[in-house]
Amino acid sequence: MASDTISISLAEHPFRGELTVPGDKSISHRVAILGGLAHGTTRVHNFLCSADCLNTLRAMQQLGAAVSPIEQSGDFSITGTGMCPIPPSTDIDCGNSGTGMRLLAGVLGALPFGSRLVGDESLSRRPMRRVMTPLEQMGACIHACGQNPGCAPLEITGGNLRPIHYVLPVASAQVKSSIMLAGLFADGETCVEQPIVTRDHTERLLRHFGVPCQQSEDRLSIAVHGRVHLQARDIDVPSDFSSAAFWVVAASLVPGSELMLRGVGLNPTRTALLEVLRRMGAQVEIEDLRGECEPMGDIRVRYAPQMRGTEILPEEIPNLIDEVPILAVAAACARGDTSIRHAAELRVKESDRISAVVHNLRAMGGQVREYDDGMVITGVPSLVGTTLDSFTDHRIAMSFLVAGMRAAGRTTLLRCGNIETSYPGFELHLQQLIR
Ligand code: S3P
Repeated sequence: MASDTISISLAEHPFRGELTVPGDKSISHRVAILGGLAHGTTRVHNFLCSADCLNTLRAMQQLGAAVSPIEQSGDFSITGTGMCPIPPSTDIDCGNSGTGMRLLAGVLGALPFGSRLVGDESLSRRPMRRVMTPLEQMGACIHACGQNPGCAPLEITGGNLRPIHYVLPVASAQVKSSIMLAGLFADGETCVEQPIVTRDHTERLLRHFGVPCQQSEDRLSIAVHGRVHLQARDIDVPSDFSSAAFWVVAASLVPGSELMLRGVGLNPTRTALLEVLRRMGAQVEIEDLRGECEPMGDIRVRYAPQMRGTEILPEEIPNLIDEVPILAVAAACARGDTSIRHAAELRVKESDRISAVVHNLRAMGGQVREYDDGMVITGVPSLVGTTLDSFTDHRIAMSFLVAGMRAAGRTTLLRCGNIETSYPGFELHLQQLIR
């Protein structure tokens, strides 16, 4: 369990050596759901045993999937219900996870019984209308009965879905995936059009499980047919690029560092941060690119003495959306301006990440201008350590611990317990690197 308060001082030694970060969160959620729906048994390697993904796995057990005990390596087997889940006898708890809730809503919206999705305080503030609207158009009945309008708990009665052609108003892989999962249970072709290409793990995994999933040439429109055979197939989950990103930036910022990150997921819809960091002068190389369903490889990163600011392009935003907090830390240590706009989605993540980043960077002596849809950061010669709130957001906590490695004095992060939702073992890796 991650401590609730973590302190760090300016890194005095370079980071050298190798790290393997835990399995990919997005892929683990999807493996749990598809493995739990499929015909037959899926053997999973390197599943992310974090609170978020374990909640999704437990949800699939509540729906009738059989799950073997999970080994420390994240290996287990899941025997699916052959597309015939059973009614859950209690509420399904998604904890802190928007991905878990939105994807499960797609499945539950298709099933001919009642169910209830609940989440923690942060998840109960996040917008669910974005999945309710398309799922209701398909025929599901969803009632958002939270204190905030359009928010969890969600009471769902599903079944008898019709396919739709849906144009996403926001570029969201969660909404796209929710509709695609519902589409697996509808008669005919369900098509989703996205304004910008978003992460395509659902598409890749569906193909891996033998379900054809057509994509237009520009990859903006995706179609699935319902009533198809989902066949269980073993899967190796790569390490999470979003977790590796903290160390890519840390090694770029700490003089003399050279780090090797092994077996990291390198799906191009996730790795825009690498392109951006290279533009900023980072020294990052990919070695031994491999992988079947999902590309993976080793990332070598060396200290970059002269990072400079850059402008993030609108089409890059969905492919680095989870890395914006750590990118903001890199930007604060670079020369000149870095502009991160067209990213209003950050306001509805685990915390309002625009406000959290702006608040914490300013507290450390950083220069940042806040906009409705992002921020412009001007690099400063040095940050100053202080006590910061993580706003109970795992990525804010980890990003500002990395910032603390480049800050004079001591940096203390409060309310860090949620680091466990995506990166169990983060604190141990941090200690290994700074000792
Ligand atoms: C995710 C998609 C992204 C991302 C989230 C995980 C997924 O959210 O921020 O951490 O697994 O599909 P949106 O699809 O809402 O942009």
